Amino acid sequence: MVVYLIGAGPGDADLITLKAVKALNKADVVLYDYLANEEILAHAPETAERIYVGKKAGEHYKTQDQINELIIAQAEKHENVVRLKGGDPFVFGRGGEEILALMEHDIKFEVIPGVTSAIGAPTSLGLPVTHRAVATSVTIVTGHEDPTKPESQVHWDYTADTLIILMGIGNIKENTAEIMKYRSADTPVCVVESGTLPDENLVFGTLGDISDKKINTPAIMIIGDVVNMYKEIYEYQR
Ligand SMILES: C[S@@+](CC[C@H](N)C(=O)[O-])C[C@H]1O[C@@H](n2cnc3c(N)ncnc32)[C@H](O)[C@@H]1O
Repeated sequence: MVVYLIGAGPGDADLITLKAVKALNKADVVLYDYLANEEILAHAPETAERIYVGKKAGEHYKTQDQINELIIAQAEKHENVVRLKGGDPFVFGRGGEEILALMEHDIKFEVIPGVTSAIGAPTSLGLPVTHRAVATSVTIVTGHEDPTKPESQVHWDYTADTLIILMGIGNIKENTAEIMKYRSADTPVCVVESGTLPDENLVFGTLGDISDKKINTPAIMIIGDVVNMYKEIYEYQR
């Protein structure tokens, strides 16, 4: 038995890797998340069972422990189990927790990387997250830290030129207020909604006004001078 922990990419079903497709081709069962594009399931044999284990905010969902138990139960029954997660399994994907659970049960696993939405969504737009003389560093941070943690690990004084926030829309007002303690209110911001998907949409603003705009999820926020530089590319592409 082996569990393939696979990154499905940011949204567009064609952004999955060839290695992931090969693993899906031989799957007996696929456990998939809500951000993994369901079109990708077509790479699995028709006979493979498809189990949705989505964890969308606000919906009735399985806990991480329940998901771990389900993966282990499937691994004990089948030769090839695919665990399909949106983006990259290790970028805010809790993939690390899943492999630790597999290790406890001595279950073999292989991790197949995916294109994370943090980089894949801006890149597919033509928005470079680094650019010579504009940005030489990037920080990817969660905008929604586990509230049960005894102490926050998110400190908004990051010094990277480009800041990319995932899961940041629910707390956008609080987060931007914190970031403005360290960066000017004029700092440009680009929000990418449903990156690489048919309903992809961009919302431009600044740290000072982005929280007043209507934003649909899933979305990432890109903060920094690369956004101003991208506006020229955006206009050119229209
Ligand atoms: C639990 S995290 C999972 C991230 C995923 N592992 C990755 O590498 O992209 C979910 C967050 O990823 C971001 N996200 C995922 N897919 C997205 C997309 N297509 N467009 C914009 N943001 C996306 C959003 O910030 C969303 O709240």
